[in-house]
Amino acid sequence: MPAEDLLARLRAADVRVWEDGGVLRYSAPPGAFTPELRHEVFRRKAELLVLLRKLTNSVEPSAPSGGPQPGPAATGPRPSGVTPRLHRAVEEFRLRLQRCGLPMFLAAHGASGTRDADLAAASPELGGRLATALDLLVLSRWVPAADAAAVVPPELVEHLVAEGLAETDRDGLRLPALRLVEHHGQLVFVHAVSWAEVPCFGYYGPDSAGLGRLLLGARGRCLDLFASTGAQALVMAGTAREVVLVEADTGMAPVTELNLLLADRFDTAELIWGDALKVDLGEPFDTVSVNAPMMPSFGLDLPWRADGGPDGCRILEAGLRRVPLAPHGQVFADAWLIGSVAHGPSVAWLERLARERSWSVTVVPTGSTRLEPGHLDAWAMAETFVGYGAGGSPQSVHDELTALWRGTGVDRSFACLVHARPSDEPGVTVLPGAADGPGWRL
Ligand SMILES: C[S@@+](CC[C@H](N)C(=O)[O-])C[C@H]1O[C@@H](n2cnc3c(N)ncnc32)[C@H](O)[C@@H]1O
Repeated sequence: MPAEDLLARLRAADVRVWEDGGVLRYSAPPGAFTPELRHEVFRRKAELLVLLRKLTNSVEPSAPSGGPQPGPAATGPRPSGVTPRLHRAVEEFRLRLQRCGLPMFLAAHGASGTRDADLAAASPELGGRLATALDLLVLSRWVPAADAAAVVPPELVEHLVAEGLAETDRDGLRLPALRLVEHHGQLVFVHAVSWAEVPCFGYYGPDSAGLGRLLLGARGRCLDLFASTGAQALVMAGTAREVVLVEADTGMAPVTELNLLLADRFDTAELIWGDALKVDLGEPFDTVSVNAPMMPSFGLDLPWRADGGPDGCRILEAGLRRVPLAPHGQVFADAWLIGSVAHGPSVAWLERLARERSWSVTVVPTGSTRLEPGHLDAWAMAETFVGYGAGGSPQSVHDELTALWRGTGVDRSFACLVHARPSDEPGVTVLPGAADGPGWRL
């Protein structure tokens, strides 16, 4: 849909949008700005800003389009909405979070993003600001305005609302798209589990937690390729000399920047908005994190933010091929390798790559999914495809997938952690791992 049509839809719904110093603002009667419209506006903010500037005969914008794209943009300037005022507000927010004990509470619960049910159960037992912070920042619940104001400074609320990340009504505040997780000592905003509208936005899962654990103690010049929320960059930043993040989805900018501010790394980290397979990555790195889109599509349609290609390794392989690595550097990656229970994950591509780059590579399967007609895992995969926007019903996608698997010898997909380092004896070692079980035992 052209941006003009989106603007017309907004106007028809009585939602007024305008530009204010590079920030998209809106006003709407209660209930008019539906989650679906908000999602569209959030994803296509840059396009709308261009249009609004044109309509007011203003200058051309400098930010790249952050709207839905067939694939990532080649490269783009940094779309920063960070002002000194926001900087100060986030500093105050950080202090308030510490004072109310949320970081400690999340760390104690091991809340890597998969235990929301435990947290929801704990919430009524807690009182005061900790309960408010948990409800508002972790569980995406409505919180009365006065309570919310004790946790989130008004300047930050204003910013989140302008960015489409928070909504207010007469009674309160809610952050429907966000969830604060504790990621190895860092607080990071990621995509809310329950917010289904944009399943690829701000991805964070148990594989992220597993990769982050490997990155603790990262040294030297560090790279977070496919950075998304910046979770891995922030882990590395604790011990790194410098950190570079590369992410193509400019719609993530408000969240990633907020995370860097929250960790007090905004001024030191280098954020590159662009295609990880094309941007200039500069000097060699000592530690590299790669969490590429790795969903195996088996040839079906998936959005580019999640699509790892037919075998799930296309983007990962291309990313690994071009990473500049220092002689004693290390690469840590997540992978979702297809294969079979008889032969394990298929790593022929990785063996080629290891020879090409003179790397010694170790693969640790952390769990596996059964790709068998009718199996619960196959249904779950079909449902994920449908959730990601693949056409059809879970039944039809399940049937398509199982027809594609039949006769290929593929009956498993393996969630894996991968480590690579330069070596005179290049090759791949696959360590014994879980044959069957949850995708990520992390
Ligand atoms: C699995 S998520 C990364 C999650 C995060 N790094 C972590 O470890 O939790 C993959 C990210 O890659 C981004 N992406 C996809 N294709 C890309 C490309 N060609 N260049 C840069 N980023 C890309 C997506 O927008 C998405 O944010």
